[in-house]
Amino acid sequence: MRLSETPLLTNEQIQQRVAEMAAAISQDYANREIVVVVVLKGSIIFASDLIRKITVPVSLEFIRAKSYSGMTAWQPPQISMMPEQSLKDKHVLLVEDILDTGTTTALIEKRLTELEPESVALAVLLDKPSRRRFHVDCEYTGFTIEDHFVVGYGLDLDEQHRNLPNIYTVLDGKTPEESGR
Ligand code: IMP
Ligand code: MG
Repeated sequence: MRLSETPLLTNEQIQQRVAEMAAAISQDYANREIVVVVVLKGSIIFASDLIRKITVPVSLEFIRAKSYSGMTAWQPPQISMMPEQSLKDKHVLLVEDILDTGTTTALIEKRLTELEPESVALAVLLDKPSRRRFHVDCEYTGFTIEDHFVVGYGLDLDEQHRNLPNIYTVLDGKTPEESGR
């Protein structure tokens, strides 16, 4: 697999944008507490940078969603971990690495709404609107990108490259969809 020589987004660009997002979130939730719900695994780097720049009180919860696509018969993503604390009457901020078809996020939002939170808002680092199949409202978007498969800063291809500080475009090699996962 070959990655673009130049990063699509450098860590410096990402940090700057994450700081802007955290400032907007802190302002919008002034005098309130937020339950940050992080979608594993790809969002952990983004979420850890984001929450350290948020100035209102936050608590942290995790959701694990597994998607199936490509050559396997289409089926909804499986959710294998849900928040531990009660979300009833809480302000929930769902944190996702990337909004692609919207399948995963739409399902997660539905499951979260069933837990009767006071509000649910979404923060995503990357948005690929050209791939959308399900409508999803997003309150905080980091960067809107073209339809490229990207890795780094938490994002993986086949569990690789999550540790890269920058985000790169994959130039060749198969995406999970092409290889049937
Ligand atoms: P969905 O199609 O919006 O349901 O996206 C589901 C998941 O696919 C995301 O949370 C990512 O884990 C993964 N994904 C989508 N596009 C990319 C990409 O460009 N790089 C790495 N992972 C991706
Ligand atoms: Mg992934």
